[in-house]
Amino acid sequence: MKKIITSVFLVLLMLFILVQFVPRRNNNLSTANSKSIELTHYVPEDVNQILKKSCYDCHSNHTNYPWYSKIQPVSLWLNNHIDEGKEELNFSVFGNYSIRRQFHKLQEIKEQLEENEMPLSSYTMIHREAIITDLQKKVMIMWIDKLKDSFKLFYPADSLKRRAR
Ligand code: HEC
Repeated sequence: MKKIITSVFLVLLMLFILVQFVPRRNNNLSTANSKSIELTHYVPEDVNQILKKSCYDCHSNHTNYPWYSKIQPVSLWLNNHIDEGKEELNFSVFGNYSIRRQFHKLQEIKEQLEENEMPLSSYTMIHREAIITDLQKKVMIMWIDKLKDSFKLFYPADSLKRRAR
């Protein structure tokens, strides 16, 4: 029995060492951010701070990596979240989205906040500072409603409607 446990442990140890050789990626792209949300829309400073603190690690081209992200398979797992998060919504290129998509994303952000879905709970478990307070939630929703209103003012209604699929 002891022998089996020792061999299982050794195999796991070997795997752990081997997986360290999987290259790490770094989501800190040096590409210009001229299309980022705060440069293409009105984003008050308090909202900008909330986005940076609570959303940017997974929804921008700039992630602050904690020390343990250097260990595999943590790095793989985190990058997977970042890829999925950016695919849904990337604040660094928000201005590149079509007007329709921007408008729809704003609505999605509002819903995610209202339902307390974002930031992901697996993230806020460790990043306590990223938890959105009730006041921050109100500030965010007020901002989104205002921004959506301004879209409605500037663009014809049918350019904001989702296309039938
Ligand atoms: C730890 C990484 C992480 C953080 C932090 C995070 N998100 Fe996400 N987000 C994801 C992932 C992964 C997805 C795609 C899968 C899913 O919907 O769960 C996603 C999806 C979304 C979507 C699309 C949801 C839909 O309707 O399909 C929105 C909108 C969103 N996030 C907004 C936010 C906002 C706003 C914040 C900050 C308050 C935030 N997220 C923080 C990882 C994150």
